[in-house]
Formats: sequence, C-alpha cells, structure tokens
Amino acid sequence: MKRREALQRLGFGVLAGTLTNIACSGESHRAEAAQNSPSSNFEPDVDLTLTAEAAEAAILPGRPTQVWRFTGTVVKGPPDTLQAIADSYLGPTIRVRKGNNVRIRFRNRLPGESTIVHWHGLDVPEAADGHPRFAIEPGSEYVYEFTVLNRAGTYWYHPHPHQRTGAQVYRGLAGMFIVEDDEADAAGLPPSDSELLCVLQDRRFDVANQLVYLDAAGAMMDQMHGFLGNQVLVNGRKSPQFDLATRAYRVRILNGSSARVYKLAWSDDTPMTVIGTHGGLLERPVQKQYLTLAPAQRADVILDLSRQQVGHRFELRSVQYPIGDVDRAGMGMGAMGGMRGRGGMGGVAQEAVPNGAPLSLMRLNVARQEASTFTLPQKLSTFATPAGAATLPVRRVEIGFEAGEFRLGGRTFEMMATAPEEVVPAGSSQVWELVNVSGMMGMPMAHPIHLHGKQFRVLGRAQTAGAAAQSIREGIVDDGWTDTVLVLPGETVRIQAYFTDYPGLYLYHCHILEHEDMGMMRNFRIT
Ligand code: C2O
Ligand code: CU
Ligand code: CU
Repeated sequence: MKRREALQRLGFGVLAGTLTNIACSGESHRAEAAQNSPSSNFEPDVDLTLTAEAAEAAILPGRPTQVWRFTGTVVKGPPDTLQAIADSYLGPTIRVRKGNNVRIRFRNRLPGESTIVHWHGLDVPEAADGHPRFAIEPGSEYVYEFTVLNRAGTYWYHPHPHQRTGAQVYRGLAGMFIVEDDEADAAGLPPSDSELLCVLQDRRFDVANQLVYLDAAGAMMDQMHGFLGNQVLVNGRKSPQFDLATRAYRVRILNGSSARVYKLAWSDDTPMTVIGTHGGLLERPVQKQYLTLAPAQRADVILDLSRQQVGHRFELRSVQYPIGDVDRAGMGMGAMGGMRGRGGMGGVAQEAVPNGAPLSLMRLNVARQEASTFTLPQKLSTFATPAGAATLPVRRVEIGFEAGEFRLGGRTFEMMATAPEEVVPAGSSQVWELVNVSGMMGMPMAHPIHLHGKQFRVLGRAQTAGAAAQSIREGIVDDGWTDTVLVLPGETVRIQAYFTDYPGLYLYHCHILEHEDMGMMRNFRIT
C-alpha cells in the first residue's frame, strides 16, 4: 500500500490501480480515493448540497410517517436544477445538462447510520460512484465532483452503504436525476413543463402509519424473496390523481421498489409508447400493450392526450401476471400470508401483496381543454448498434443461490475483492452471458442485474419455457442503452458490456435490494 500511495501522490493513478486486485482493508482504500472537500481545480457549472436526514411525511390519512429523506440547495447553477416533488418524501429531482461539471456536497445527517450516495446509471469517476467502502459517518460530508458524460435520460440516485441499501431506500432515500442534451431537445418531444414524474415504490405500514420493513416474524422470507409491500406509492403518495390537459405528456417512470416487478398498462387500453429507457432515448418509439419494469428500471413514455375528450378518466395499472415460473417463492409467500398475522401494532396483519397481483397505481383525469397537436417523432435518436460482438471476450456469469448464499459468478460480495475475471481494461467491451440458475428449494426467481459505470446493450435472450416467463417477457423493452436487465428463471441473457474509461473499483449486483444487501453483488476493477 505504501508503494501504491506513493505512486498516486505522483499522479500515477492508473498504474497504481493495476497493482492491487487483491482484498485489502477498506480503510486504506478509502483514504486513497474518497473525497471529503471540494477540489480547487474543478470548476463546477452546478454546485449543490444534498442532505440525508430524518423527517416526517403525510402519506396515509392520519398520523404522519417517520421517513428519511434527501433535501438539497443550489449553491451555483440554474435555480431549477433542484425540483422538489410536492407532498413527497422523495428527494429533489436533479436536472442537469450533458457536459455539466457537477459538484454535490453530500451531508449525512441520519440518526446513527453511515451512508453514501450512488448516481444510478451515470458514468462517473470511482470516487463519485458511491461504493459502500466510501460510506461516511453521521455528521460527515462527502464531496462528489464529476462531468455528466451520459446522454439525456432518466437516471436516479439512492444510498449504497454496505448491507443497508434496502433499509435506507425503503425509508425514503431516493430521487430522480434527469439529464438533458441537445439531441433530446431537438427530438420533437413534449417540453419539460409537460412531464409527469412517476416513482413507483411499494411499502407496508403498521396501524400507527409507520413503515414496516424486515420485522422479526417474516424477515427471513422477506429477504429471500425480496421485500414486497401491500401499498404501492407513486411519488410517495397513495393512488394520486393527476388533472391533465388535452396535450401530449412525457411520463418518466422509475421503479424504485425493492423487489416488485410491474407489468404496466393504461386502463383505457391505449398502448404504452416507449421513447426511452435507462440510458436515454431509443432510436425510434416502441409501442407495447404492456411495459415490464423491474426494480431500478426506468422508462420514458409518451401519453398523447391531444385528441382526448375532457372528462376522460383512466388509470396507470400493473396488470396481473402469473408468477409460477418467475417467482414461485413470492407466490408461496402470498398464499401463506393469510395464515400469518404479523407486523402491525395491535396484531393487525401487514402482509405482502405478491408479485404479479393486479394494482391500480395512479389516476389520470383529462380536466382541461387546450389547443395542441402532437405528432410522435418516428426517429428519436441515433447511436451505434453493437458490432463485432463475435470477437469479444465472453464471460459467463451465473446468477445463483448456493449454500445459503445469493451469488454472482459463484461468489458473494467482499468489500475490496475482485476475481481475475473481474479485472477489465478501461474503455473495453465484453459479452457477458447472465445465466439465471438460481433456485432455492426448487423455487426459481427473476433477478434484475445492474452494472455500474457505462450503460450496456442487450444482445439477446435465450427462451425459457413457461407461460409466466412469457407473460413478463412480452412487456420487456431491450432496445437502447440499459443499466439493469431482468433475467428470468432459467434464462440466459447476453449483454454487451462497455466498461468505463475511469480506473477503479465498480459494482455489479442484483437490484432486488435485499439480495444486494445479502451479498448478491461483486466488484469489477477497471485497470
Ligand atoms: Cu441502483 Cu449499485 O445501484
Ligand atoms: Cu448503479
Ligand atoms: Cu436477486
């Protein structure tokens, strides 16, 4: 470590990075890359503070709910860089432009917990990526500095501390991170004042309106299958209603849930018109009757009401889907639910609503007539489709459950460790075959697999048999740039991964947050 630190002081960051791919203590690494004060040679276009703290939110009628939330201030930059979501525990929406230099001074004011923030989907330097080894104590500050390299799109931010990500996101720590750029401005899409943000999160409450997470009685099962709530909140509210005008809207939808997979549809049978996914605009719009969104996934959808009648009412729903071969475990839990009273004060049962159950999410009401027309652009964006995948190195990554552990590539998370096949050159590309072999007690599950750093492309899916997988698959949009891909039971998904140009230690993991916290996560080291 002495030699490594000496090299870094001399500015040989990249070279130093290649010297260790062995496990070593978090402290020494932390000292090497963590950032606790603004750097003098970084000229921010946007300078923000972001604080994580305890707060109260009015979610259900009656008593307020104790939550944790992000709040922020703009130190420098356009005042609308931060936009609070009304009546919500969610953090402010951060809006920046591609190319901006962004500084965020993050303060941990949580009662008694370490934390660190990750910018999900953004390609940022190692020190700005929110690896759990950078978690800071309550009362401390962490300074993020990065240039926005990503395309315009819908990203998000959330905590990423070791084994506490699920609990902290669940308490309310999450927000949207929107990037804009010239290409998207010119695409002929509804302007930013015609946008609806829609963050889907399921929660359980006790009779005193307080959040129930991994309580003693059901914690094991909830961790194994991923935590499912019994109420779905949209932007932190239960079944909100939006009064809209007769014009076209852009709906940015984020699945910010721990483990729920939504199969989204408009209740009036209008198809879902998807224009963008995790890494920004698609090349052309995709129309689907259903849109599948797994945890951490986003979609930008056009809702064209320009020819609608005032008075038309409809809903955004998650439609019923069979989970037999998607998450038999979850279904088992749902079936068992009726027999198990737990969670609530006064013995009121707070049971999970199983994955695949039909849900009404939000209500939409065409309330105002406006003279507006909208034509859906047929060409949204141009980007290179992956070529030459046949000549790239191929890595098989098994998604498994063995010896009581959730594993990726046969291993569980270790803070600093990388296996030889987890060391990759900066800026290189590989084909990863994500093979879902997980099955516990004969109960296979779907896992949403996320890579930090650059967005990747889905090359293909090998079919899995079964009506359940088929039902989920018909809503999946694999086009475009992706950072989180749902791998169904027994399925092999081939992706072309592109590694960031920044050297350092990055993560890949299952985005069922309880799986991540249990170690279904690994590092890869960019050299
Ligand atoms: Cu959205 Cu590593 O996480
Ligand atoms: Cu991420
Ligand atoms: Cu998982």
